[in-house]
Amino acid sequence: MRTSNIRRSMKLKKSPPTSLDTLFIKTYGCQMNEYDSSRMLDLMQEAYGMRLVASPEDADVILMNTCSIREKAEDKVYSELGRYRKLKEKRPSMIIGVGGCVGQQEGKRIQQRAPYVDAVFGPQTYHKLPEMIHKIRRDRVQVTDTDMPEIEKFDHLPAPKGNGLSGFVTIMEGCDKFCTFCVVPYTRGSELSRPVEDVLEECGKLLATGTTEISLLGQNVNAYRGLSKDGDEWDFTMLLYAVAKLDGLKRLRFSTSHPMEMTEEMAAAFGDIPVLMPYLHLPVQSGSNAILKAMHRGHNRDDYFPLIESLRKYCPDIALSSDFIVGYPGETEEDFEATLDLVRRVNYDFSYCFKYSPRPGTPAAQSEDNVPEAIKNERLQRLLELTRLQTRQAMVKQIGRAVEVLVEKESKKEGEMQGRTADYRIVHFKGQVRQIGQIMPVRITEAYGQSLHGVLILA
Ligand code: SAH
Ligand code: SF4
Ligand code: F3S
Repeated sequence: MRTSNIRRSMKLKKSPPTSLDTLFIKTYGCQMNEYDSSRMLDLMQEAYGMRLVASPEDADVILMNTCSIREKAEDKVYSELGRYRKLKEKRPSMIIGVGGCVGQQEGKRIQQRAPYVDAVFGPQTYHKLPEMIHKIRRDRVQVTDTDMPEIEKFDHLPAPKGNGLSGFVTIMEGCDKFCTFCVVPYTRGSELSRPVEDVLEECGKLLATGTTEISLLGQNVNAYRGLSKDGDEWDFTMLLYAVAKLDGLKRLRFSTSHPMEMTEEMAAAFGDIPVLMPYLHLPVQSGSNAILKAMHRGHNRDDYFPLIESLRKYCPDIALSSDFIVGYPGETEEDFEATLDLVRRVNYDFSYCFKYSPRPGTPAAQSEDNVPEAIKNERLQRLLELTRLQTRQAMVKQIGRAVEVLVEKESKKEGEMQGRTADYRIVHFKGQVRQIGQIMPVRITEAYGQSLHGVLILA
């Protein structure tokens, strides 16, 4: 292990040695960050026997796993850190670490602005956390490790503990698409697929802990090109079929797919693999060819519709969702209307709509952010109005249906449980805590904007 890339900065004042019993992790951002946070917990449990606590007040070690995808990401980190600073003033032995995509981008600047932060690391260096913490305690130094020479973390992570319900497995890291607005290629590095057997083994270990639902993760899972042990290169669809065969797996999902690399075989898999759940997030960002080109998305609107058709051909009940950005530099009213038109034509089950915000270091940030804020807001409202209506209509269609719900947790409402349908809709119903982790038949009785209500179907 190379220690040279753990940089020594200022010596800290003497404080009592930290006990390492309790850990608090605050996670922002995408599912890949959620995966990383669960692996940080696995690591700290294995290295120090730490246990997770629900509040930072009770923690010996606080880790923030940050996201820098949209505006004010850094501000959010610093304001949260301000809270932790007060805790650390009361208990100077506490260790504070900042990881994730803001950690990667800001590096040492974080400790310059917030000198009470002990460790800064990125999405590709958190496997060295036990070593970093050891060094912080022994030498009373701050460490920064945002190196990204090659992705090695997967070789250093312990077996996943799982939560007996559903789990994430990152199958590939990074992104090589370099969409002009996006920080991910800079914060997570280049695309790297994990070897086939590594993925299968990790899925197998999760299933052995009682997990029944697995989501395969990557910024572009359909760019997956993993080596098998006999040296063949597998694409994503091959991997899907292999994971689907693992014992104990009841539900398989994946995220995110890029339209440019979506294949007919992938669409066919939705009709062909019983455990592959009928829901796909296929972000298109804009319906305007000019904007898609400016964004470097690598396809135009007319390439997108056949993908949707083919998905619906193989799997008529598939639920579809997308991300949209409004107010990209140069976006005209006509461009925006092309987005509305695409949304109408596709008719999404769920949509995630964002105002464009320039991100430091991205190509788009060099263009003037020239769509006025008032127009961005207005377009966002118009898009939300349309997409919310579509979501609501899709929800209303569920009324009367018998669906299978994987029960996830207790609802906020007493006596009710919450879970998800195969097509990823949230359902609340009167149930029992012991049903958590089970797949229960539920008849849908009511539909709300974002969720459904139902009653258990008794055998
Ligand atoms: N890999 C995924 C997206 C990851 S980022 C894909 O290619 O689809 C998640 C979403 O955040 C993006 O789909 C985009 O809609 C939004 N996003 C990313 N950068 C943004 C920016 N600078 N401003 C506004 N929204 C942004
Ligand atoms: Fe970002 Fe584009 Fe890569 Fe998605 S495909 S992570 S939007 S650069
Ligand atoms: Fe955010 Fe990094 Fe994920 S920027 S969206 S946490 S890859």
